[in-house]
Order: sequence, then C-alpha cells, then structure tokens
Amino acid sequence: MLNFQYYAPTKAVFGKDAELETGSLVKQEKCSKVLLHYGGQSAKKSGLLDRICKALEEYDIDYVMLGGVVPNPRLSKVYEGIELCRKEGVDFILAVGGGSVIDSAKAIGYGMANPDCDVWDLYTGKARPKGCMPVGAVLTIAAAGSEMSDSSVITNEDGWYKKALNTNYARCRFAVMNPELTYTLPEYQTESGCTDIMMHTMERYFVLEDTMKITDGIAEALMRNVMENAKILLKEPENYDARAEIMWCSTLSHNDLTGCGTNGGDWATHLIEHELGGLFDVAHGAGLAAVWGSWARYVMDEKPERFAKFAENVMGIEDQGDVKKTALAGIEAVEAFCREIHMPTNLRELGVEPTEEQIRDMAMKATNNDTVELGVFKKLKAEDLIRIYTAAK
Ligand code: NZQ
Ligand code: ZN
Repeated sequence: MLNFQYYAPTKAVFGKDAELETGSLVKQEKCSKVLLHYGGQSAKKSGLLDRICKALEEYDIDYVMLGGVVPNPRLSKVYEGIELCRKEGVDFILAVGGGSVIDSAKAIGYGMANPDCDVWDLYTGKARPKGCMPVGAVLTIAAAGSEMSDSSVITNEDGWYKKALNTNYARCRFAVMNPELTYTLPEYQTESGCTDIMMHTMERYFVLEDTMKITDGIAEALMRNVMENAKILLKEPENYDARAEIMWCSTLSHNDLTGCGTNGGDWATHLIEHELGGLFDVAHGAGLAAVWGSWARYVMDEKPERFAKFAENVMGIEDQGDVKKTALAGIEAVEAFCREIHMPTNLRELGVEPTEEQIRDMAMKATNNDTVELGVFKKLKAEDLIRIYTAAK
C-alpha cells in the first residue's frame, strides 16, 4: 500500500427534509451575498427552488439568482456567473442541482478567487488556481459526486473542449442531500447516475499496486450496493431506501474514500468519456457505460488477477479455473448489468457514430496532442485511444 492523505471537509446533511437546513447552513458561512445557481427546469418545477429561496429569506440572507446551467456545463455560463458575482458583491455560491450545476458553481468560484487570469486557463493548466470562493450544494441527482469531490468539469464551446480541474479549494462547504429530491428523475438519468457512481469506484479499484484490504472491501461493498439498488429503482423510483443508498454511494464513491492507499486511480475511462461529452453532449454515466467494456478488454492483460478479483467479489462470478477467463467473465457481467439497467454498452447504443476523423480528434484532445498518457493500469497514448474508441463503435 502507498502512503496517503485523506481530506473530506464537506459537511453532509442527509435525509428527509434536509433542504430545510439550507438557510441555517448558509448563515453559518457569514457571507454578505449569495449566488443561487441552478439548472434548467427541474428544481423550479418541483418547487425546490422556491423552498430554498424561502429558507434563505427566513435567515435574512441576501441573494441573486442565476439559472440555465445545462448538462456538460458551459464556459459561457461560468463567465456570466463571474460577471454577476462581481457586480453584485457575491461572496458565497449555493448550487441547487446535480454535478453540472455544482461544477459550474465551482468554476464561478475559481473565477472569483483568481481575478488575474482567465478561468479557462485554470482548466487547461496554463495557470494555477490560488483559491476558490466557497460553494455549498443542495443535491438533486445522485451521480457525479461533485458534492464532496475536489473536481469541476467544464465544457468550452469554443472547440468543444471538456476539461476537469481538481483541487481541494473546490470542495463544497456543505452538501444537503434529501433522497426524496431525486424521485422526479427520469429513469435514464437515474441509471446513468448509478453507472457513474460504479465507475468512480472502478476507476480507483483498477490499479496495479498492492491495495489495502479495507479499501478494497469498502469499494466492493459499495459497488454491489449500487447494482442492487439501481435494479430496484428501475421498478420503484420512489423507494426511499434505495434512493438513499444510491445517494450516499454517490458521495462515498467520489470523496476519495475508495482510493486510500493507492495512487488515486486510473481515470482513463473518464477522460475517454469526457471527449464524447464535449463533442456529442451525451449523459456522462451513459457515455462511461458505452466505452468501459472496450477499455477493460484493452487493458486487462496488464494484471488479469485484479479483474478476476473484481469479477468474483463484485460481480459474483465463480472462479473459471483460469484467471483470464474469470477476468473476462467479470467484464461481460458488467456489460450485462448495464443492459439490465438500460444503459448502452457501445457507442451505437449511446446514439453516437463518430467518424474516423472525429475519433482521431478526440484521441488527440484527450492526450493533449499525444503529449500526455492516460491511465495507470495501462498507460494509453493517442493510438491506444483510437483503438478503444474504434472497438467501442
Ligand atoms: O437542468 P435540470 O432541469 O435540473 O435537469 C437536469 C439535467 O437535465 C436533470 N435533473 C437533475 N436533478 C433532477 C433532474 N431532473 C428531474 N429531477 C431532478 N431531481 O438531470 C439532468 C442531468 O443533470 P446533471 O447535473 O448534468 O447530472 P450529473 O450529476 O450526472 O452531472 C454530470 C456532469 O458532472 C460531470 C460530468 O462530466 C457532467 O458534466 N462530472 C463531475 C464530476 C465532479 N465534479 O466530481 C465527476 C464526474 O465524473 C463527472 O465527470
Ligand atoms: Zn464520473
């Protein structure tokens, strides 16, 4: 096992009516003005936004609102938010929504705390962030884990670049999580979210070094739990216990708990998907489902024992008497699970048919013109990504 530091400063407020705590949580931040940031229609339609406004007003908290964040959140909205925050003297951002809204809020926060550079330069690595304005979240979809992660993922419409920025500055001050708020999710978003949660744990699980038994045990239990409850939600979208299990798994899968003792994980599948999200605007979890099998088959031979362990402990596959056979059966079982929850297992099922030129373009963007290798399980160059995208067709 490797040495590690574990940092999870976000206060989680979890359960029925949790959103009623929002006013008091924001008040404790001692801010003078809040940006209430939200997405399209869902939070308005459900009445959640009104309830949050009321909660802020009850505590005499001054706020301005900015909605319209879209999935795969855009840089133009981030600029709009920074301008508004400067004009209004905002010093705290409250995100009401999913990963996209929270990531947009974090990006605005970076922009506010780093006035000397263009916020996009922080995402490309051209400049380094010195801080981030504090952000709090009221979560409406269990998926990205942004409520407790160090990450923010933004799409620049100028060239359709989708880039992540990961720093501890951007960890939310608090995350309000009421599983009931996720009842209104369409099935596709629920299951796409469940896939993303699985993948955050799988990205950390597939490493070459020796791992800690406790970390593996937590990860394996989490993944089994997500699969069990993802299936329940297909039939019972208003099952509180299943929604709660999934919501807490979403947070634990991406607050680094399942990376303790390793180098932090592989993440190639995510970077492969981010290009699909940037170019084709697909739902993130569904995009991951469409490429994971191709990635797994491509890298499996580096350490088939790890895939075999996953197959047995997570997917319930019996030892096939040959480590590679067991490993492969595990990969096939993941794809069967994806199909069961109506997720795609290739690009065609995702509704995307990239040309050879587009595949090359995505591979070059993901590897910064073939100057950066992706992943740790097997280090991948642009040529490898082209093979994986092509196999995923
Ligand atoms: O805009 P509205 O109307 O709210 O609709 C949203 C959106 O269309 C809808 N939705 C959310 N809550 C709802 C609801 N509909 C009905 N009822 C509710 N309660 O769901 C759709 C998707 O929302 P979005 O926020 O995009 O989903 P998700 O949480 O999956 O976030 C995806 C984004 O997060 C990034 C992804 O790349 C993608 O851009 N990620 C962020 C990470 C992070 N910051 O740590 C890590 C992830 O790996 C991921 O990359
Ligand atoms: Zn993800």
